[in-house]
Amino acid sequence: MKADKTGMHGVWASRWTFILAATGSAVGLGNIWKFPYITGENGGGAFVLVYLICILTAGIPVMMAEVLLGRKGRMSPINTMKELAGQEKAPQFFQGIGWMGAISGFFILSFYSVIAGWTLYYVVKMISGDFSNVTADGAGEIFGGLLSDPLLLTLLHTIFMVMTGVVIARGVHKGLEDGVRTMMPLLFLMLILLLGYSLTTSGFSQAAAFLFSFDFEHLTGASVVEALGHSFFTLSLGMGAIMAYGAYMPKQASLGKTILAVGFLDTLVALVAGLIVFSIVFTNGLEPGAGPGLMFQTLPLAFSALPGGQWIGTAFFILVAIAAWSSALSIAEPAVAWAVEKGWSRGMATFAVCGFAWVLGLGTVLSFNEWSDVTLWGKTFFDSLDFLTANIMLPLGGMLIAIFVGWFMTAESTNAEARIKNPTVFAIWRFMLKFVSPLAVLAIFLHGLKVF
Ligand code: PFF
Repeated sequence: MKADKTGMHGVWASRWTFILAATGSAVGLGNIWKFPYITGENGGGAFVLVYLICILTAGIPVMMAEVLLGRKGRMSPINTMKELAGQEKAPQFFQGIGWMGAISGFFILSFYSVIAGWTLYYVVKMISGDFSNVTADGAGEIFGGLLSDPLLLTLLHTIFMVMTGVVIARGVHKGLEDGVRTMMPLLFLMLILLLGYSLTTSGFSQAAAFLFSFDFEHLTGASVVEALGHSFFTLSLGMGAIMAYGAYMPKQASLGKTILAVGFLDTLVALVAGLIVFSIVFTNGLEPGAGPGLMFQTLPLAFSALPGGQWIGTAFFILVAIAAWSSALSIAEPAVAWAVEKGWSRGMATFAVCGFAWVLGLGTVLSFNEWSDVTLWGKTFFDSLDFLTANIMLPLGGMLIAIFVGWFMTAESTNAEARIKNPTVFAIWRFMLKFVSPLAVLAIFLHGLKVF
């Protein structure tokens, strides 16, 4: 299939819409749910520092490369990589970036939908007032009750997957643009409100110290790999999601500032979410390493302490669900776009992708109850998928993308697409792609494997 100038899937209305959509993809459960809990599990500050370094040295440069490839190819990541690998005379295995991405997408969507289902449950619980005057133990019990009920989890997972499928089937533009435009600013507003509340709690300074004092004692090889993996996960990199969105980006827009804006917003949301969650953790004597339930056991406590907390809490969980929704769309998009290029209708493609991910998601549902003892290398089904995708497949995909753009594309053809006007900025970026990003990923992998 030959791509015309805009590709068969259309183009975003403007550069600004791309920023919104890419931010919608990047800001999601990874920032509000996952970042605080893995930071807690990995001992705080030093982990945050490694994460920030990974965002700067690998995340942002790779994000620019991924968008560039998408816009140059104007097709699904699978076909884009097929065409560009041929054009740039790169070894055939670079085509595998697209395939590996589509597989990662299935894996991630399957568990992402289950966790997003939890946020839907919390919307209902908030509205019904079940969290009014809740204690830390009470919040823990409500969360524990949810996890132990596979049927309820399946129902919530199903609702979220259907919500995702309906928007994707309508086409990303109609479905996504309007939603993201109104919801993202509201989410930011809500986080600022909660940050204001957390400033009044006695645990705030402890939370700030926990996140920003760099105590390297806690840092292990495994936590460094996790920080790297999370920097890819949170920016939606290494699996083609941002490449697919890049394929719909207007040709004239410059990549540099656009991507910096997305990376900055994403990091800001994660840090603010971390401050909020850990203020509540320390104020209430909770355990920072409580795991995936951390957000769900802490935030209801904040809402029960706020005047009108029932309604603020309801609105907040609706917004988190929407943030998850806009991310889920981008997780499915690479596979759906590929099937459409194969001649499937968008509806059928969506049904197949979401249906398959739904079935796989049942494994995650069961891993919290019936299968909680079934482990592979000490990890449950959910932990294994999460580890395999975020800590291995995404960094590997990102490294290959950096190598492809850094080494197989000429400086001229790279900047013909990137349109970075400042030559120094362009040179720094290209240097990062050639050397820093691939070596950072490689070093961290080897460190994680305990090679050094
Ligand atoms: N970036 C999303 C988040 O932080 O929740 C998750 C995600 C979206 C991961 C898209 C990967 C992806 F391709």
